[in-house]
This record gives sequence, C-alpha cells and structure tokens, in this order.
Amino acid sequence: MAVAGPAGCADLEELRDHIGDCHRCPLGSTCTRLVFGSGDPHARLMLIGEAPGKNEDLAGEPFVGAAGKLLDELLAGIGLRRSEVFIANMVKCRPPGNRDPELSEIETCAPFLSRQIEFIDPAVIATLGRFASHFVLRTTESITSLRGKVFEVDGRRVAPVFHPAAALYDTSKRSVLEDDFRLLREVIDRDEETITTGDALATHRAGVLLGRAAHPGDVIALSGGLGAGKTALVQGMAEGLGVVGHVPSPTFNILLVHPGDTRLYHFDLYRLERPEELVDIDFYETLESDGVSAIEWADRFPTELPADRLDVVIDVADESRRVLRLKATGPRSRRLARGWADAWRAAGAVTGS
Ligand code: URA
Repeated sequence: MAVAGPAGCADLEELRDHIGDCHRCPLGSTCTRLVFGSGDPHARLMLIGEAPGKNEDLAGEPFVGAAGKLLDELLAGIGLRRSEVFIANMVKCRPPGNRDPELSEIETCAPFLSRQIEFIDPAVIATLGRFASHFVLRTTESITSLRGKVFEVDGRRVAPVFHPAAALYDTSKRSVLEDDFRLLREVIDRDEETITTGDALATHRAGVLLGRAAHPGDVIALSGGLGAGKTALVQGMAEGLGVVGHVPSPTFNILLVHPGDTRLYHFDLYRLERPEELVDIDFYETLESDGVSAIEWADRFPTELPADRLDVVIDVADESRRVLRLKATGPRSRRLARGWADAWRAAGAVTGS
C-alpha cells in the first residue's frame, strides 16, 4: 500500500523510500544525489545543517567537504564520533552554485526533516547556522544572538551554533564554535533520563527491561538509600538477563555471580572499607568480563568505577513513587540508558504502576 506522505512512514527507511527520486522542487533536476542524512538512527544528538554542497552532492552524504572535516574535529573535541550522532540538512538537494536555499525549497523539504526528527527522537539538537536555527526555533533572530544559548522545543534541548563553514572563511569563529560545542557537551551530559516507578514490584519490572536492554560488558552503578529498591531493580535485571532462581542481596558476600542467558555480576560495596579491598574481589577484572555488572552502593567508591557506566540514582519521592535518575557517562552506557528508557516508555509504565 502506498504511503500518503511523510506522516504515513513508519521509520527512517520508509521515509527515504517515500522521498524517492525527488522532483518536488526544482533542486531535484539540478542535483546529482539527494543527501538524506546519516548516522545513528537513535542518536541523542542530532545536527542539522543547511544544504549539501558540491562534495556532499557527489557523495550523497552530509558534511563530507571542508566544513565536514571541521565538524568532525569539533565533534571529536567533545568526545563524539560521527557514527554516534545523526547529521541531516534543512534541504536535501544541493542548490546550484551553493546559493542559499529559497523559501519554497525549504518549505517543500521541511516535512521530511520534521519526520526525521520524530523518528530519531534526539534529546538534543544542534542547529548549524541560520537556516536550521530559524526552522527549528521558529524565529528570525540572527544566529549571532542565538548562539551560546540553549532553548527547549517539543521537550528537546536546542543549541544553535555557527555553521562550521563560517569558520572556514573567518577563522576567529573557530574558537566561538569550540565554545559552542563545549556547551553542547554540557547540555548532553546534563540531559538525564528519569524513570518513575512505584512500589518494589514496579521497580522490579523496570529492572526486567533494563536486563533485556543490557549487553555483556555493561556496568550499572546503583545508588540510593536503604530501602530505595536497588536490590529489587537488580532482581528484575536478573529476570531480564535470563537468570533462573533466587537473587538475594549480596550484602554479606560482596559479589554474587548468577549464570543466565547473560551472566550477572551483582556487587554490594556497602561493607567495604577501603578501595584496596576491591582488588581482593577481582572488581576491575570482573567489570571487564563477559557479563553485565550491577553495583549496589556504587557511590561509596566513585573514583573506582569505569569511565563508561550507567549511573542510576534511586530517590524515594514518597511511599508510592520512586524516581530513578539515569546518567550515562559514555557511548556504551548512553545506548543502554536510551534502550531502557525507550522500553519503559513503550511498556506504557507510569508512576505507581
Ligand atoms: N554544509 C551544509 O550545511 N550541509 C552539508 O551537508 C555540507 C555543508
């Protein structure tokens, strides 16, 4: 059955098929290749440029020319690779001679970008230059006054920055761009997911989804007071990882190993006095091995935790409401946090459920 428009597409692939060999505006007749966009379809950060240039038009990929090289450097400067973000443009076909896209061209192409944003569902959008900033922020303010600020649109953080090409012509803009990317990093890091559960059973259910979203090598660092539900969460994780049998609190054992479809290493650091004792329980080797590690009372030794881990802080808001704050500290844990939070949302789980 043919889809009616971008709204009828179910995912990015269908959207690309729907756009097809596009001649909805005159740019379709002058461009070599349509540049749909590329990167992680579930990226937390999406970057939106203006329109393909000569190199992009030939390659069918966004930002592969000189501005793209600078963009890669700016991303690397904040610890990100191109494959971890999604890059798209306002207009998908090259305007001849790299002229500015016309309003009618932008309006024709915009529904495709809007749908891309919906599918990728990024927490943070960086708008590169005036055209993308004006579209996403629905403003006509100059990019000079917009940059350096963070806006909220449809529940996402939007950070406008200069277009990288601007720094190729005016090198003084490079340090401004670097500042803006540092701000972008802060926005991404600040952007925590939260999962709200109710009683221990609901926390257990959230744990099942966490276990299902986890992959060998993932490390989940849990903190929260006595009775917050850390063990209930890990018991749910165990179920999600295919562990059979009872999963007790490891308070007296410090570490319990549970075989399952994926092995679960369940630590409880409450009784440890000094970080040196972690060596005695093979803490560091275990975290790097083939299972998923859940560490209760991880906040006792924060400097001993691996660089890429998912911090989960459980706050008991009241008797029937617990707020789990997720903070991913690297690409692996970002994927895990995203997968878990998405699964939780898809399950329609709500407070007190
Ligand atoms: N400039 C853009 O805005 N987009 C590209 O893909 C390349 C250069």
